[in-house]
Amino acid sequence: MAQKRQTSVVAAASSRSEQLYNRAKKVLPGGVDSPVRYFEPYPFFAASARGSKLVTADHRTLTDYCMGYGAMLLGHGYPSVLDAARSQLDKGTLYCVPTELEIKLAELVSKAVPCADMVRLVNTGSEATMNAIRLARAFTKKKKVIKFDGGYHGAHDYVLVKAGSGAASLPASEGVLEEASAQTIVSPYNDAAELERTIERNRDDAACVIMEPVLANIGLVLPDKNYLSDVRKITQQNDTVLIFDEVVTGFRLALGGAGEFFGIRPDLATFAKALGNGFPVGAIAGSKEIMQQLAPAGRVYQASTFAGNPVSVSAAIAALSTLFEAKDSIYPQVARTCDSIVEGIREELEDIGGINCTINSIGSMYQVFFTADRVRDEASAKKADPAKFRKLFDELLRRNVFIPPSQFETCFVSYAHDEDDVDRTVDAYSEAFKKIKEQQK
Ligand SMILES: Cc1ncc(COP(=O)(O)O)c(C=O)c1O
Repeated sequence: MAQKRQTSVVAAASSRSEQLYNRAKKVLPGGVDSPVRYFEPYPFFAASARGSKLVTADHRTLTDYCMGYGAMLLGHGYPSVLDAARSQLDKGTLYCVPTELEIKLAELVSKAVPCADMVRLVNTGSEATMNAIRLARAFTKKKKVIKFDGGYHGAHDYVLVKAGSGAASLPASEGVLEEASAQTIVSPYNDAAELERTIERNRDDAACVIMEPVLANIGLVLPDKNYLSDVRKITQQNDTVLIFDEVVTGFRLALGGAGEFFGIRPDLATFAKALGNGFPVGAIAGSKEIMQQLAPAGRVYQASTFAGNPVSVSAAIAALSTLFEAKDSIYPQVARTCDSIVEGIREELEDIGGINCTINSIGSMYQVFFTADRVRDEASAKKADPAKFRKLFDELLRRNVFIPPSQFETCFVSYAHDEDDVDRTVDAYSEAFKKIKEQQK
């Protein structure tokens, strides 16, 4: 069947990205290695990145707010992180025996994160959440997992149920065992009373509550006042392990993540993204009692060839050392930059008038929803107009501003974004909103 040819905002037809995409889709399903990277009619391909900028295969320089879906807190190619990785390369890339580097990194995580008595290093966020759930089951001798509607914890069976991010647009993934998803109970976010009822109904079965303390994969959704402390109380009263999935918020919202930011101590926490500032490294952290169950200390099996690999670990040590040294300037600066963008967008929306938008933001994260209503859970996030968001994405990209292509993601500001980026970005949003208004008429 002949496909209607769509014009692309990526570049002119027969661009390098289009050529690469046509080549990619023959060998990579859908032409990409992770579904969120695809958008119609084809994604742009990257050539390089530095600071707040990403350069495409078509030689366009974009101001990046995707920032490795939150990984690049310090910006692309942060010098001390690159130097640490480079100097490790000559000493070896994988030993599969322990190194002092791993102790150093675990000590830094433990110093930064209030709940982290002990740490197990892994490679990705998915690995971290999958094994945190296993630990919670072993510890409680219970089976069921409670997660929140729109919460994303990676692409494994027990959490791919009413998930956010790329999975938000799928009814359910084929291939996930029904027997596995039947063990997962979904509750609405920001509704402590409903969580309490659910957990009490399943008191003998509920092994853990796993949650993004701030939802960042259904757009950005903030916890209501006292919500997280209510969740903490409810889980404690019902002998259920509380897992904060801090893959996005960890080291980003504060050095000690959302746990520090909101003053809540979960039993376990999972990390990745900002931990390695672009290198694949993750961590499970938590109370000694629970963590000591991991083999070989205990009987919960978790293993990985690449865990603690010295290149990623060196990069992560450099990233965390920078965050420790400069935390008093980094966190206020990224929050200020994000606030300036959000305030700028709000002012433009007010001047232009007639477009219903809600903007949620916290620290260095924000998202615009095309709805007049408050967005406080998955249901209200899904009321936002996806066609308008798509138009926003296209119009911003036309103006060299790259935000994640989906409404159900979050925009990330880094330490590398400066005032010039803010001005250009706000101008781009303003022009994009004007186009959206024209289309509304
Ligand atoms: C909150 C959260 N948890 C877990 C994951 C999975 O991490 P990874 O993609 O590194 O497996 C993600 C990925 O976006 C995430 O946002």
